[in-house]
Amino acid sequence: ADALKIGIAGLGTVGASLVRILKERHEMLATTCGRPIELVAVAARDRSKDRGVDLSKTAWFENAVALASEADIDVFVELMGGAGDPAYSSVKAALERGIHVVTANKALLAKHGIELAGIAEEQGALLNYEAAVAGGIPVIKALRESLTGNTVSRVYGIMNGTCNYILTKMEKEGLTFEACLTEAQRLGYAEADPSFDIEGNDTAHKLSILTSLAFGTAIAADDIYLEGITNISIEDIQAAADLGYRIKLLGVAQRTESGIEQRVHPTMVPYDSVIAQVDGVTNAVAVESDILGELLMVGPGAGGNATASAVLGDIADIAKSRPGAQHVPAFGRPTTALLPYKRARMQ
Ligand code: NAP
Ligand code: HSE
Repeated sequence: ADALKIGIAGLGTVGASLVRILKERHEMLATTCGRPIELVAVAARDRSKDRGVDLSKTAWFENAVALASEADIDVFVELMGGAGDPAYSSVKAALERGIHVVTANKALLAKHGIELAGIAEEQGALLNYEAAVAGGIPVIKALRESLTGNTVSRVYGIMNGTCNYILTKMEKEGLTFEACLTEAQRLGYAEADPSFDIEGNDTAHKLSILTSLAFGTAIAADDIYLEGITNISIEDIQAAADLGYRIKLLGVAQRTESGIEQRVHPTMVPYDSVIAQVDGVTNAVAVESDILGELLMVGPGAGGNATASAVLGDIADIAKSRPGAQHVPAFGRPTTALLPYKRARMQ
């Protein structure tokens, strides 16, 4: 069968891991997917940077939008980050010409997800984004596909690896907040601007995506009550421990009598609960629904390989799909109202 030609924009923590895995597992992937996956083009800012991978035979684009608009590719993989350009324009340009898109960019989807899903549907292209929420955990597949027919009452969990890593290190090793954040950045867990992690915005972006899938709402990260972990001290963590609790940054979306409520804030969880035992960069997402009951998914939430694993799964799904086949839409059309839960309400 014809090779699936892919172009990758963004060769940082996730992009470089993905390129390495695509090269190392080329034959295995060809067998599994029934066709080879060929990396034909890449884009990043600095061509001279050593990425630890051989890109000498791959077309190089300075401009990600040009890659998305002009390259002869079947799939555009967006791994640059950010809700604005070039991520937005390049993803839109690819979808508008019917090119499938795979992205790990939750900030982009939180702002433009419904619009981009609409373009994808119109053009018969796929928009896959498993890596955008909870790293390698297949939570998007669970909500989009496996739980179809269930009525979801609550989705909650630890969705930011950087924050969970910081809280764990502060408690277990007595390190300062700043030292833990620096280490999380060194390990490639943090966003390019780490304030998105520690102030809770990244969790809010992810939660807004899960809320839309679970409850059929618009994606509304700005309507989430938001409090990050910047004010948590070692003393707070120790005081919670003395009472039998651990502090976790949770994202929670739940059905209430007045509407769907979403919030992100540090939460004291009982020490003997499963979620309290989720340490380090590990994430955990729980979904409560009426037919299945409680589902709890725990796994690596950030880092090059964990994230590249989810991106690769999305690419493989496209490689295995056949032209004209029916696909699950990226997001459903919003049918349920969200409860506005503005910051002001809690201040
Ligand atoms: P990163 O290490 O900061 O890498 C970003 C890459 O994008 C770099 O290669 C950079 O080029 C390139 N880039 C940035 N602006 C560009 C522009 N204007 N034009 C062309 N290329 C540009 O980021 P990352 O950690 O790999 O994250 C990538 C995406 O995955 C983000 O959306 C992030 O939120 C998401 N994600 C990350 C993780 C994780 O654990 N890291 C997990 C899940 C999801 P240069 O290298 O030349 O500077
Ligand atoms: N910065 C994010 C985190 C990356 O720490 O969870 C994974 O989305």
